[in-house]
Amino acid sequence: MRPEMREGYEGTGPGAITPDGCAVEFYSRLPVGDEPDVISAAVPAGAHILELGSGVGRVTHALLERGFTVTAVDESADMLERVRGARTICSPVEDLDLGETFDVVMLASFLVHNADIELRRRMLRACARHLVKGGCVLIQREGENYHSDLPRERIDPSGFTVRIVSAGPVQNGVHSVRAEYEFPDAVWTQTFRSRPLTKHQFEEALKEAGLRVDRYLTEDRIWVRAVPGEE
Ligand SMILES: C[S@@+](CC[C@H](N)C(=O)[O-])C[C@H]1O[C@@H](n2cnc3c(N)ncnc32)[C@H](O)[C@@H]1O
Repeated sequence: MRPEMREGYEGTGPGAITPDGCAVEFYSRLPVGDEPDVISAAVPAGAHILELGSGVGRVTHALLERGFTVTAVDESADMLERVRGARTICSPVEDLDLGETFDVVMLASFLVHNADIELRRRMLRACARHLVKGGCVLIQREGENYHSDLPRERIDPSGFTVRIVSAGPVQNGVHSVRAEYEFPDAVWTQTFRSRPLTKHQFEEALKEAGLRVDRYLTEDRIWVRAVPGEE
């Protein structure tokens, strides 16, 4: 059975659309960026990575090529169908309880900015409970100007345009963001909810889940390495 769309989320364009409005075909076309470099530099070689919200495996496949083992989790079976070479698990991140631990748990793609505070708590707790002793959680946050300087546009060298059209308040502390992805032969749009978090709010959210920042991995503080609080 196909999962329902999440409230406040919408996607348009060819092919399957996930409950959070992501287009499977768009993510299949999107090239991987510097994510594998950032991740490889922060974790031990050959680590077993639990990747939460893996999508079609854009980053998964690059990590497998670098010798990591990856278990890929996503709530969309349409996305997971495209993952090759990794074990896949179809589940909402917030409900995941595998009874196993991993060297690294990855929560990328701004999932930590979920509008629903309780849902965010459950996601971060899921990260913490799947972590082996001595392991780490890698989180990708939004950049500082993500919700300002709009509309903003980036032309990808591979020939498509990403446009963040608008990000406006819809309820207490939550924005509705609209993105467009324009290729010569197709256009996809996504409307989604995001709760911007200051550095302080982000660190407090980690603390609630028994985690703390070990270090920010990139100068813009988008990528974070977190560890259990008592370490
Ligand atoms: C923006 S896409 C990014 C996919 C992949 N991380 C990438 O960078 O190519 C977000 C993915 O997270 C999944 N997702 C969003 N919320 C989720 C949740 N609560 N539980 C499981 N998967 C979720 C979506 O189905 C989608 O595949």
